Amino acid sequence: MNIVMISPGYPPEMGYFTRALAQTGATVIGVGDQGGDSRPRAPRAGLTHYERVSLADEGSVLAALQGLARHVSFDRVECLWEPYMLLAARIREAFGVPGMTVEQTIPFRDKEVMKQVLDAAGIRTPRHAKARTVAEVWEAAERIGFPLVVKPIAGAGSADTYRVDSFDDLGHVLPAIRHVRRVSVEEFIEAEEFTYDTICAGGEVLVDNISWYRPRPLQGRSHEWITPVTLALRDTHQPSLLPGREMGAKVLSALGFQTGFTHMEWYLKSDGEAVFGEIGARAPGARSVDIMNYATDADFFLAWAQAVVHGQVRQQIERRYNAATLFKRAQGSGRITRIEGLESLLARYGPHVCVVDLLPIGAHRRDWRATLLSDGMVIVRHPDLDTTVEMCDRFGTDLQLYAE
Ligand SMILES: Nc1ncnc2c1ncn2[C@@H]1O[C@H](COP(=O)(O)OP(=O)(O)OP(=O)(O)O)[C@@H](O)[C@H]1O
Ligand SMILES: [Mg+2]
Repeated sequence: MNIVMISPGYPPEMGYFTRALAQTGATVIGVGDQGGDSRPRAPRAGLTHYERVSLADEGSVLAALQGLARHVSFDRVECLWEPYMLLAARIREAFGVPGMTVEQTIPFRDKEVMKQVLDAAGIRTPRHAKARTVAEVWEAAERIGFPLVVKPIAGAGSADTYRVDSFDDLGHVLPAIRHVRRVSVEEFIEAEEFTYDTICAGGEVLVDNISWYRPRPLQGRSHEWITPVTLALRDTHQPSLLPGREMGAKVLSALGFQTGFTHMEWYLKSDGEAVFGEIGARAPGARSVDIMNYATDADFFLAWAQAVVHGQVRQQIERRYNAATLFKRAQGSGRITRIEGLESLLARYGPHVCVVDLLPIGAHRRDWRATLLSDGMVIVRHPDLDTTVEMCDRFGTDLQLYAE
């Protein structure tokens, strides 16, 4: 099977998916932006061939593939990186390759179209409206009521996303989002936030995962002192999560999803109601696939590749642990000068700590608003949920990075 993999080495976890495709025996043709030192090196990277293009320039991508198509046929076109999902769909259409079409991809990219399709299927979404002008935002706010959320229709990483509690607030928020062309105005859902992630083939869910965000992503993105945690739950069949799991299955069938990874976010209200958040036809980012692996000792990168190539997952997947990743932000600005608390945390929790990947002393701080990875991350796991949460809290408060 010949598979075109879009952006096979960037972001870094794409390299794991690419290698997993090769592990199944597929021939992988990489098409990406990266050159120079960051160029994925075939065959180490799992690639039979790498074509360097500008992914933003669709015409040149198609031209490069037309050149290759004289020598090989393409059986699948895979892309797990949000900005190029539509490009992948256009390539499939241009070369008659099975998989998601442009029309099937749009509801995964446009949050208004997404909710329209799901509303029609009877799925509970936040009350919502799209707006292009200040007057439309104002009118939507009148109709939906406060509190509400204003966010870009094609957003990611909680960028330009605001909770708005009053018309007064709205007056302050509007200038900050002036550069966003199309916004979604939504009823604010007071709730805990979870994911529902799947690997599917032929429209069947083969493997799934539920992760819990602590705290809600918008809060984590608004306050620098917070250590955001994503926790892959061991017990994903507990009754309180059932409404989200059931909603997940309905969402996938309403959108006609067939094969690949999906990443849905949903809200669980204190009265037990599940409300849809959003869904991507891709794996979650920010090391979230790693915690699925640590929760199960399985290989979700390979499980995805097996679903794509064989239409089935050829591994036993058993949930043994709760596994959490936490993202640290240093205090101060500039370069990391000191890391405190790590030794005593390792002495206490060592066997349950899977990964410690902090910026080294002397490194420049990352922009915590631009990347959830922030100044480093830690992964912990434990069979017991309360113990896992306690470890997250301890790492949140007792591990500190300082910068000057
Ligand atoms: N209707 C809503 N009610 C309450 N909170 C919301 C709502 N919409 C968005 N949020 C908050 O803003 C965050 C980001 O929103 P959303 O997931 O829609 O956008 P995104 O930018 O694509 O997110 P991501 O961080 O997953 O890339 C949510 O995780 C949630 O915390
Ligand atoms: Mg989101």
